[in-house]
Amino acid sequence: MAERFPQQHILSPNLPYGLSLTWRESPDFDPLRARETLSSQFDPAAAILGIGDPLLQSLSLPLPALRPFPSLAGPGVSIPSSQGSLWTFATAKTRSELFDISEALLALFGRDFILEDRMETFTYREGRDLSGYVDGTENPQGDRAFSVAIADGTSAPRGSSFVAVQRWKHDLDLLHTHSRSEQDRMIGRDISTNREIDDAPISAHIKRSAQESFSPDAFIFRKSMPWAEGNGKGLEFIAFGSSLDPFERILRRMAGTEDGIRDALFTFSAPITGSYYWCPPVSGRSLDLSLP
Ligand code: HEM
Repeated sequence: MAERFPQQHILSPNLPYGLSLTWRESPDFDPLRARETLSSQFDPAAAILGIGDPLLQSLSLPLPALRPFPSLAGPGVSIPSSQGSLWTFATAKTRSELFDISEALLALFGRDFILEDRMETFTYREGRDLSGYVDGTENPQGDRAFSVAIADGTSAPRGSSFVAVQRWKHDLDLLHTHSRSEQDRMIGRDISTNREIDDAPISAHIKRSAQESFSPDAFIFRKSMPWAEGNGKGLEFIAFGSSLDPFERILRRMAGTEDGIRDALFTFSAPITGSYYWCPPVSGRSLDLSLP
């Protein structure tokens, strides 16, 4: 069997401009043609591609490790699911390059898929969330990132990955009604030095999400990017894993389903979409959709 590799952009750093596209199946959807397009014509050098549970079912591909994104509720918290069929995510140095990628994807997928949602994303300053806090500090690096993000062949084909995509909408006016030290205690880090605040409350985001505090530990590889469109702004949260479980365990704790304490992020931000996708591995220059 040909060797299988992860899609090349999963582990590479984001470029300054991003484009997150969600697709659903068109009325003319043809499973044989769609499979052929995905596995022979899509170029994994252009974008990351993820397949959602609805599309896996249409393609008759059984992969128990992929499930639809759950809608969850915690105290005062509502987390929606908006499970898509197909997701692509590209980053580029310029908007022109992204436009070209987007046109090529529309031409490629146009018969079998309809573009359901399109969001342009960007790197804010040196990699901060729009709240002003550095995002990604505790991301695993190097080999550790590979083992966190990429499946080893046990429950999904070697080289594949799972991704959670969740759009969060911020209310920055509301955030800014809090003093700087209150904001620091919501996140759990100092906005200027990025140092952890040791005595931050248990609701602080980095206390809720501390990857080593779960048992077993819950590491994820985050590749989120800010977005701002019209009056809306927030974070396109994107996290890869060799399975979906670490992400979901963190999310449940953030929502307060474990102990009734919700993440302080919910004070000024709320998720408005949520999807899970399987990112097939690459053999040669094409996606490899074969399942054991
Ligand atoms: C509004 C949405 C979010 C914002 C603005 C946000 C922002 C941040 C910031 C500023 C940090 C600290 C620096 C760092 O280590 O990256 C952080 C850490 C982290 N976040 Fe989020 N985050 C959001 C949503 C989420 C969600 C939905 C999850 C997973 C379910 C998550 C998981 C994590 C993890 C695992 C860490 C590192 C914790 C550690 O091990 O220290 N975040 N986030």
